[in-house]
Amino acid sequence: MNGRDLVRSMKAVGSAGAAQRLRTVRAAWRTRRADAAGLPTRGAERARVPGPVLEAEPGPGGGVVRFSRSELRITVAVNGAVFWGWDGAGPEPSYALAGRCPEPDPRAVLEPDKDGGWRVVAERATVVVSRHGAVEVQTPGGVTLRRDLPPRWWEPVGGGAGRWMQRSEVSADARFFGLGGRASGPRLRGGTYRLWNTDPGRAFGPGDDPLYLTMPVQLVVADAGTHLVFHDTSWDGTVTLREGEEGAGSGHDRPGASELRMSGGPLRCWVMVGTPARVLLAWASLTGAPALPPAWALGHQHARWGFGSEQEVRRIVAGYQERDLPLDAVHLDIDHYDEHQVFTVDQERFPKLPQLAEDLRRDGVRLVSIVDPAVRAEPGNAVYESGTVVDAFVRDAAGQLVRGEAWAGESVFPDFTHARVREWWGGLYKERLAQGFAGFWHDMNEPTSFTAFGEPTLPRSARHALEGRGGDHREAHNVYGLCMARAAYEGVRESAPRERPFVFSRSGWAGLQRYGGTWSGDVATGWPGLRASLALVMGLGLCGVPYSGPDVGGFDGSPSPELYLRWFQLGAYLPLFRTHASLRAGRREPWEFGPEVLEHARVALLERRRLLPYFMTLAHLARRTGTPYVRPLWWGIPEDRALRDCEDAFLLGDCLLVAPVLDPGADRRAVQLPRGRWYDTATGRAYDGPGQILVDAPLSRIPVLARAGAVLPVRGEDGGLELEVWAPARGRTGGGLVVPDVGDGWDEPEIERYVARWQGRRVVVEREGEDGVSAPPHPVRVRGVEER
Ligand code: GLC
Repeated sequence: MNGRDLVRSMKAVGSAGAAQRLRTVRAAWRTRRADAAGLPTRGAERARVPGPVLEAEPGPGGGVVRFSRSELRITVAVNGAVFWGWDGAGPEPSYALAGRCPEPDPRAVLEPDKDGGWRVVAERATVVVSRHGAVEVQTPGGVTLRRDLPPRWWEPVGGGAGRWMQRSEVSADARFFGLGGRASGPRLRGGTYRLWNTDPGRAFGPGDDPLYLTMPVQLVVADAGTHLVFHDTSWDGTVTLREGEEGAGSGHDRPGASELRMSGGPLRCWVMVGTPARVLLAWASLTGAPALPPAWALGHQHARWGFGSEQEVRRIVAGYQERDLPLDAVHLDIDHYDEHQVFTVDQERFPKLPQLAEDLRRDGVRLVSIVDPAVRAEPGNAVYESGTVVDAFVRDAAGQLVRGEAWAGESVFPDFTHARVREWWGGLYKERLAQGFAGFWHDMNEPTSFTAFGEPTLPRSARHALEGRGGDHREAHNVYGLCMARAAYEGVRESAPRERPFVFSRSGWAGLQRYGGTWSGDVATGWPGLRASLALVMGLGLCGVPYSGPDVGGFDGSPSPELYLRWFQLGAYLPLFRTHASLRAGRREPWEFGPEVLEHARVALLERRRLLPYFMTLAHLARRTGTPYVRPLWWGIPEDRALRDCEDAFLLGDCLLVAPVLDPGADRRAVQLPRGRWYDTATGRAYDGPGQILVDAPLSRIPVLARAGAVLPVRGEDGGLELEVWAPARGRTGGGLVVPDVGDGWDEPEIERYVARWQGRRVVVEREGEDGVSAPPHPVRVRGVEER
């Protein structure tokens, strides 16, 4: 929420609202003035292209190709990722990389190519550079996956940072995914997508772009192969995509195209080639393994803006308990703060917060705290004062503190691009831990400052440390949320070293997964919002951020019982399963929509609880391999074009295919099946893919299919781990991985590996170990044998 909505919401607040409205006008004027004084004016520019090639110099993993007006540095890294940078740009410094840049692969060498060009041949890709600076990425078999035309720069005549443009072509059959959290995905149709983290200012639907978390990451899936390209530049930009068209055998294919325009920053990128799984593995090895959530964060969570008091929190928790509905966490929003000030507690409404936290924890319910970056600029505010001591807050070009407008009124903003500031901020979570909070929900960190007009963020001229390099908000904006997440993750890790930090953040950038996950933000209540929330989770997973989920039921207004239920049923299969809604929105508790919805929601909650060991296994696998829990149907079969275009169903891990109901009034739906045998888990009926089937989707459930041969860890009636095994197709074997996790802490559980096979008329399941197979140490339940 910001400016426009704020105005509306302030009506309820009376004269305080009028004062705040005035401040949003002031904030907007201040931003405009600051930028007029602090930003270079755009004057005459000179255009530049690389020009003809002059020479090349081989080096470790590649080398440098010199052109008359630029030079291109290419390095193949040991993880198979290819880096190239123009104008001598190297991979560092980078906010996306986890730790140091991977070593160059000594086997990759720069060698002369035909027509005066150069090429680097590596294990997984060949990079061909033309004599005018076009760069082509080919599969080892020589098929072109991507062709970058020579880039173009526009530089101020008087010197200074320039803007640039990079046009690329992909094959006619290719599909684009990624670019962070996009409401219109996961398949990105032709159009322009902006790279500037933005609070849309109201509950958003599929047409809204950009949203809170953008990143210049494209995953491109084509018949010839999958590649991920990451342009490591945090500046404002746009990507214009055009899907290709195939000439139906006429030979006149129109390639797909991407045009990236950046307002500044280095022109450098990483490209990874291979299967989707290989590509995401390389991406995770470059930008970091996804943080492992504690088990409770994989359960059901209930949030609300406006619980308003401890009593109300207890009432809601009791509502879950009385009805035997699983609940693992409750999230407190800004209304538990003292006048909306971060790291404070309203002592009247929440007089005994640590006691509340303790009582809830005894019942297995954790408390999660919202954390906003804006700090009320007022003497007496302890965070403001301690931040002032360490000079934590963003200043303008003239050295004055930048003041914006946030929930707590006139505020200043920590500069998280400074290690000292991150350390100070990270230490503040001690106060939260002492209150009894177990997890952290970062909000408003695009960063958002309410402005009556113009962009709802800090002035672009605002200064940032950028790890000592110095720069302004044009460069720091998109990594602000990422750096805040780092501060929290590191601070919490230090203060509570035995527990896994749980942080999820509205904004972020490439690499956010190292510190935690994200959520949809204020998704609009309505069927399009339901669809958008699935698109977001899938798209983010393909950018390497596997943990996310929507506000179940939508953020604003009141969903119909049917919409609420369908959202709830989908949410039960997404990593973050959280109901949440705005201050003035209708109820979101499962019992508020009548007895029928309550019964069906209970089924979804119990199934989520039953699947918890499976979710935990998926979290471990995501950490080890970068593979998201929620995957598009084409994940294992990217060459299946029907699957590539399918956006209304997903794979949850290797074992399950979830087909949510995304339209009103439906009691069955079509499901596009990948190849192989699949069982409807409700009826046991077997279907053979590939192809489209029609399955029942009564209000009581959404269709979930299990892959033949799947071995799923589930929670048994007694709370112990059980294996649910789906019979392999005759003549085939199955299997699966199980990671038995104790729920928190840093012990590395051993991965258990199972095989399932037919033995006469029975299906047997065995554990594979270093010294042969053994009986599984868990009870086994085989399904799909008689049911066929
Ligand atoms: C923002 C968040 C929302 C939260 C609200 C109040 O709109 O996206 O989740 O409830 O702020 O903190």
